[in-house]
Amino acid sequence: MQASANSFALLETTLHQAYITGYEDHTIRPNQSITRAETAAMLYRLLTEDSKNQFTTDHNPFTDVNQGQWFCTAVSTLYQTEVLNGYPEGRFSPNKAITRGEFAAIICRFADEIPKTENPFDDVKGHWAEELIAYAAAQHWLAGYPDGSFAPERCITRAEAITIINRALDRGTDHEHMLPDMIQWSDNQLNSYIMENGVYVTDPWFYCAIQEATNSHKYTRENQIEQWTELTKNPQWEQPVKDFYQIVINRSNPIENPENYVPPTGLAAIKGSDQRMETQAAAALETMLRDLRATGLSVMAVSGYRTYERQVYLYQNQVRKVLSRNPGMSQAEAERIAATISAIPGTSEHELGLAIDLSTDGSLTESFAHTAAGKWLYAHCADYGFILRYPADKQEITGIIYEPWHFRYVGIEPAKDIMASGLCMEEYYGTYLSKADSELLTFPQGIGGIE
Ligand code: DAL
Ligand code: ZN
Repeated sequence: MQASANSFALLETTLHQAYITGYEDHTIRPNQSITRAETAAMLYRLLTEDSKNQFTTDHNPFTDVNQGQWFCTAVSTLYQTEVLNGYPEGRFSPNKAITRGEFAAIICRFADEIPKTENPFDDVKGHWAEELIAYAAAQHWLAGYPDGSFAPERCITRAEAITIINRALDRGTDHEHMLPDMIQWSDNQLNSYIMENGVYVTDPWFYCAIQEATNSHKYTRENQIEQWTELTKNPQWEQPVKDFYQIVINRSNPIENPENYVPPTGLAAIKGSDQRMETQAAAALETMLRDLRATGLSVMAVSGYRTYERQVYLYQNQVRKVLSRNPGMSQAEAERIAATISAIPGTSEHELGLAIDLSTDGSLTESFAHTAAGKWLYAHCADYGFILRYPADKQEITGIIYEPWHFRYVGIEPAKDIMASGLCMEEYYGTYLSKADSELLTFPQGIGGIE
């Protein structure tokens, strides 16, 4: 396939350099989402030297992309070349997972012109990126799902993003035309079984695409087939800095080594309570509660940081309660229900030190949502860096019942963005429960939760 109507003048189409890197544990994590900042960084690496020299800048109009942040140059430069856009409130939302529609649109904007093309996907009709997605499909840069949909709002995976880039840049070959000494990834292997979405698959569809994107190589082209001739050194890039405050924890994404976990930034006591939180979160909470008190309202901090042992105790207690309310219920069923009320140990945000349960009377029930304090907190929490973590309409996605009392610290800009987006953390960051975990969710009937 030729790069057809477009020349991609800004992008390197001849040299086949690696443009994405794996993790220290030799994984490439093909099914993980990719953030908007990571997308910018990846595409910035693919600019030609000439375009880098011409356009590189650290200046941009976004309120949430500042000098010194690891992605500032990439985002600013690609904004300058008019391939990246922000959101209406002047934010870029760098840590938000990029959607399939957004990603397709960005790739298309590198093309010289976008001729009007018929859109083949029902679920893209009327979407803001309809013309761009249709064009990308006509170019065979992307395909939809077997059911004929494209899912433009779904977060794109690393494997999907790489596939689109390779196709758009006419890169890639089959494994027989690659070289045996290339870098390999433990989760991108031929002839071995790999866990994908909770099921084992062999020979993943993305195997060759990922090898192409992670190994710099020289090549020849005979009869249209790319034949690798030599592996060359992969460039070194600045590593993405993961913001501790934006870690997503859920039953499919537990804390590593939870038994000994304490927040790396330390714990601080919350004034007027016997609870503690991570240092910065505790300071933000105190400011929020001070401003709440200034309106004549008040709440108590019922539960902040918890050790792993404490979470084990609360979870097991919850299992016992479910069993005592439901005589004859199996232990397994009770555990499944309990896990939607008290997080399975190792998966609670309280263990991160970033969650706080607030209450007017010490109880934790849905009625808190209807109190004046509960309403004030919901309306203003984002201004202090907190979000309501477990909304009523997201239970199937978070795996946790509605908790109007549980506030999660993420930092002010992300909190404002998440609360305004109407998305829960799983959707915003693309860190979903696995298929197996979400299929096993069982929610309690008509009871509130505790801690
Ligand atoms: N109740 C929330 C989900 C927790 O245990 O962290
Ligand atoms: Zn909580």
